[in-house]
Amino acid sequence: MSFDLILFGGTGDLVWRKLMPALFQAFRHGSLPEGGRIVGVARDDLSDEAYRALIKSRFDQVELAKRPTEEEFARFAALLFYLRMDLSNASDYPRLASTLQEHAADTVVMYLATAPALFTVFCEQMAAAGLKRPNMRVVLEKPLGHSLASNRAINASVRQVFDEKQIFRIDHYLGKPSVQNLFALRFGNALFEPLWRRENIANIQITIAEDIGIEKRGAFYDDTGALRDMVQNHALQLLCAVAMEPPINAHADAIRDEKLKVLRSLKPWTPETLRQHVVRGQYGAGSVDGAPVVGYRLEAGVRDASQTETFVALRCEIANWRWAGVPFYIRTGKRLAGRSAYIEVNFRPAPHAIYKSPTGAGNRLVIHLQPKDGLELHLFAQGQQNRISSPSSDTPLSPVQLDLDFDKRFGSERVGAYERLLLDVIDGRLNLFVRSDEQEEAWRWVEPIMQSWVADAEGPRPYAAGTWGPSASSAMIARDGYCWTEEC
Ligand code: BG6
Repeated sequence: MSFDLILFGGTGDLVWRKLMPALFQAFRHGSLPEGGRIVGVARDDLSDEAYRALIKSRFDQVELAKRPTEEEFARFAALLFYLRMDLSNASDYPRLASTLQEHAADTVVMYLATAPALFTVFCEQMAAAGLKRPNMRVVLEKPLGHSLASNRAINASVRQVFDEKQIFRIDHYLGKPSVQNLFALRFGNALFEPLWRRENIANIQITIAEDIGIEKRGAFYDDTGALRDMVQNHALQLLCAVAMEPPINAHADAIRDEKLKVLRSLKPWTPETLRQHVVRGQYGAGSVDGAPVVGYRLEAGVRDASQTETFVALRCEIANWRWAGVPFYIRTGKRLAGRSAYIEVNFRPAPHAIYKSPTGAGNRLVIHLQPKDGLELHLFAQGQQNRISSPSSDTPLSPVQLDLDFDKRFGSERVGAYERLLLDVIDGRLNLFVRSDEQEEAWRWVEPIMQSWVADAEGPRPYAAGTWGPSASSAMIARDGYCWTEEC
């Protein structure tokens, strides 16, 4: 099956940082279909050769194991082409048309790795130029809008040109191997599903912590903040993956229908829950990995008195039979004490204690997303010291864990998130992409938080870079009698 992959924003960060390395890995693994072209599109005046040279130079910044050798790059470069084009200029579209005509590809993927403001313009121009074809797919990068209204406007304009099944909304967290494994754990094994409910689970925590700051994206980030950048999409998609009902099959709409139900079941906010169950923070100066770092407001591109949050912690509930009353905690932030993302399922303690529990807590299942990719099941066992005594209420148990490391087990067979998602788009598999109704529902749920912040003069709570965020985040979870992992 031949393909044309047209990368709009072809000289931008996303393309050389994520997409080209992912495409190269697919090429190296032999999974990129034969007979394909990858066409970078941008406004710069470049030849195909100059574009190849630019991409080659960028590979120097990719981790060593993922860098091509000279010979590999020469073969990969034969797939690369360049088109100079301004997406907002109608007179440039005939050149896109003739580029497409040069190659009778079975599938044409239009990947919009551009500012979202161009999505609508692109769709209008595609329609005006009569370029829409049934074999086309369009990939939209986040953020898709800034609010429910702007998200709807983008979705409406894209749908005027493309059918829903041609639209691939990326949330790269869904492409992470650990998220695939969460689905496999829940729906490919009979062991956990009977336990996966309010009767057995005390609470679920989702953490996406980053130690990096906002890097070179100050202006973008200052208009966006952690809620829009991470919670509305990545964190809520993880919440759906952990809380959804088993889908009737593995088809895209069966999965997306179930995720949508979770989003629809999220308890609506009230003035009281907005006050008690949402914490926003902003990092000040501190140190990360022993090196001093500046506070958020001193980062390039950030307003002096910015009120943008770089940290969010919140508590929510899913109002359905499976989850009624079980708190779900989400937290994410920049410049935290480490880079780690995981979902922690905290089971209730044994209902009748004949042993002394070392912590008073129950079993825990931790699904590690990164940097480690694996599962840990925390149990209790009798340690050596108990060898001669028979069990009694005084017998203390020791915590032990079953540890599955997927990187070790599957090693180089593992496929990275963007590699996986790009191959899925080329093959037309929508399972790991977000449908418009899911996205709108997620916006609908976060909007009251955004509105409450506009009305709140207090602003985000400060935290020192290199810590786990403002103390209010610990206080929020402690009110329920629980703690974040690193504090327990
Ligand atoms: C992106 C956000 O969607 O996800 C970034 O815009 C964030 O701010 C990134 O750093 C995190 O992705 P990952 O895969 O590194 O956890």
